[in-house]
Amino acid sequence: MEKAQWSSHISFIIATVGSAVGLGNIWRFPYIMGKNGGAIFLLTYLLLIAFICIIPLLCELFIGKIYKKDTVSAFAEINPKFKWFGWLCIITVILIPCFYFVVGGWILNYIWIFLTNRIPDNFAQYFSSFSSQVTIPCFLSILFLLMTSIFPFRGVNKGIEKANNIMMPLFALMLIIMAVYAVTLPGAKEGLTFMFKPNFSQFNSAMVLTALGQALFTLSIGMGAIITYGSYMKKDTNIIKSAYTLIFFDTLIAVIAGIMIFPIVFSFGVTPSAGATLVFISLPEMFAKLPFPSITGLIFFILLFFAAITSGISIMETAVASFINQFNVSRQKATFILSIIIGIITIPSTLSFGLLSDFSLNGKNFFDFLDYTTSNILLPFNTLLICLIAGWCIKGLWKNEIGENFLGYSFNILLKFIIPVILIYVILSGI
Ligand code: PHE
Repeated sequence: MEKAQWSSHISFIIATVGSAVGLGNIWRFPYIMGKNGGAIFLLTYLLLIAFICIIPLLCELFIGKIYKKDTVSAFAEINPKFKWFGWLCIITVILIPCFYFVVGGWILNYIWIFLTNRIPDNFAQYFSSFSSQVTIPCFLSILFLLMTSIFPFRGVNKGIEKANNIMMPLFALMLIIMAVYAVTLPGAKEGLTFMFKPNFSQFNSAMVLTALGQALFTLSIGMGAIITYGSYMKKDTNIIKSAYTLIFFDTLIAVIAGIMIFPIVFSFGVTPSAGATLVFISLPEMFAKLPFPSITGLIFFILLFFAAITSGISIMETAVASFINQFNVSRQKATFILSIIIGIITIPSTLSFGLLSDFSLNGKNFFDFLDYTTSNILLPFNTLLICLIAGWCIKGLWKNEIGENFLGYSFNILLKFIIPVILIYVILSGI
């Protein structure tokens, strides 16, 4: 079977940006930043992205381009001994949707209430009673899973590429309109100060690990998603340019999301450290007070839905591509089997806020446990291994891919020595 390919360079860029820009930017980034001191977190996060994460990102793109394989096959081809690591990446990418799609289900619910103009008086109360139910959150998460699965089911060009080309530009446009509106609010100045004026006394090692986890999560690094999308790229794609474009757009969108959210938070007297509920309680509370509550709320949650589904597609595709080759099944069968596995793990995750709220792992409910374990443990650990494998086990990676020039030498030294040491340090001191 001929290997699928993006139909153009721009489709590749849009798809990887679509993978990177998701709930990580709009839901996770503001709430984590709000909990970790605002500007100081933003600064750490930006430094980590610019100086650290660019290297594993390039590695994943190179691995995708060189081997043109799914994640498990690519690591097995580098060395059969590394096949287990390919599977660890796939396990990680299967665990992520088990909380991500729960949030997807919440989004569907909010779209529904704004669409039908059933806006509750008190969102805090509403959200806690809604999320603690059994059937509706469960049904909506599974619905979100099915909506996402349609695209990998249909294949690279007809499904994934089309979805991204339409949804991503629309998403960017909606976001900019909302951010411009937010900075005209009375609390904008305070919100922007919180976001951009660092307080260095809040700097600590746990925060650095959280910032690293967030940076990896938002760039979709550390579980093979970029390897998979990279494997569909055309031979002559410029990887370095692609990596910078990806980082630029992902960071820009996260920062615009912050510029949209924090002025709102301060204008309406909400605490920025409200946590995972920031988007689902504080923001709708604000929309409800605006002149056209159902329209603003609807636009916002549709925007969040687009962002979530294009990332969800890449999450599914990463696992689907490996299942197709490892189990020798059709794309449709692989998508079907994976949807069942993810669906089964997602159900207890949706129940974490009600029926199973007393069940805790390591002091966290099942949902938070999945979120924490993937972002703060698996992604940093996987990224460390990706750097070590790419640096030490792929012969002449930098010479062949970048060239024997200053850039190539620096990349090599960073990849082999500096980045692994920094990653080990951040992981150990953060835990
Ligand atoms: N980067 C995506 C986001 O920020 C999430 C994601 C994780 C996508 C892993 C693909 C793989 O929402």
